[in-house]
Amino acid sequence: MRVLLAQPRGFCAGVIRAIEIVERSIRKFGAPVYVRHEIVHNRHVVETLKKQGAIFVDELSEVPDGAVTIFSAHGVSRAVEDEAAARSLPVLDATCPLVAKVHQQGRRYAARGRVLVLIGHAGHAEVEGTVGQVDAPIHLVASAEDVARLDLPRDAPLAYLTQTTLSVDDTRGIIAALQARFSDVEGPDVSGICYATQHRQAAVRELCAEVDLLLVVGSRNSSNSTRLREIGEEMGRPSHLISHGGELDPAWLAGVRTVGLTAGASAPEELILDVIAALRRHGAAEIAQMAGITEDVEFRLPAELREPSPFPA
Ligand code: F3S
Repeated sequence: MRVLLAQPRGFCAGVIRAIEIVERSIRKFGAPVYVRHEIVHNRHVVETLKKQGAIFVDELSEVPDGAVTIFSAHGVSRAVEDEAAARSLPVLDATCPLVAKVHQQGRRYAARGRVLVLIGHAGHAEVEGTVGQVDAPIHLVASAEDVARLDLPRDAPLAYLTQTTLSVDDTRGIIAALQARFSDVEGPDVSGICYATQHRQAAVRELCAEVDLLLVVGSRNSSNSTRLREIGEEMGRPSHLISHGGELDPAWLAGVRTVGLTAGASAPEELILDVIAALRRHGAAEIAQMAGITEDVEFRLPAELREPSPFPA
């Protein structure tokens, strides 16, 4: 049995930045630091940071006065920012810059009097943050059926935004449904879906042409990981989302010659290695990586956490 690894896979620049913000905060300010919401949607990452001294909370009311507070990569609403400011909490914002860009886009459209539609999944932290960052009502849609149900006139001046981790193909379908139903629609096409999501989805499509089974490493609540598994299914390959090697079911491997392996943007490489080790125990003899693009995106850390330059100014 052969294992073929997707390229790219795993950590994106926003996740690397968010984790580094927590680690550097602990080093600089001392433990504990408080993180509102899971910093990224991966249990292993959260547990590792807990051991280093991070405390994860759902609400700011759980943060003691004066404690260093970090907002997760998914972003937060204005109400959360205001609550932190009212309590003078020292905040470090790990919101991914690409999520922040969607917030800015939303504010720009709203300022121009556009009616906002957000393509995204109800209840996801990023969606809650985006809805709460724009000072105007936002209509949330997750499907073409939701578009059909929008109670708005045909000539309403619409603008749409997208969650950063959606399926590119599903989103194209929803945008087409908006354009078919309304006469005045503006939006960023699918460019609101971030580069990392787009690259990982394209790589999985390519990978699926060569494999009999797809394994996606990621947590169940990770939106982009779930999309990768769904693409595997759309491509007609049995596809499973697993957190680590211990979740590998040997029954999945019956008759399989090539296993495709990828990971969501919040899944660390060590978990991919753990799944490879489990596959080896079940007969994988060759590990190869597909040719694919190498990402070189990097996001700057907040100024207070950047290392001082070793060179004189
Ligand atoms: Fe940002 Fe995209 Fe990663 S929005 S956190 S770069 S999945």
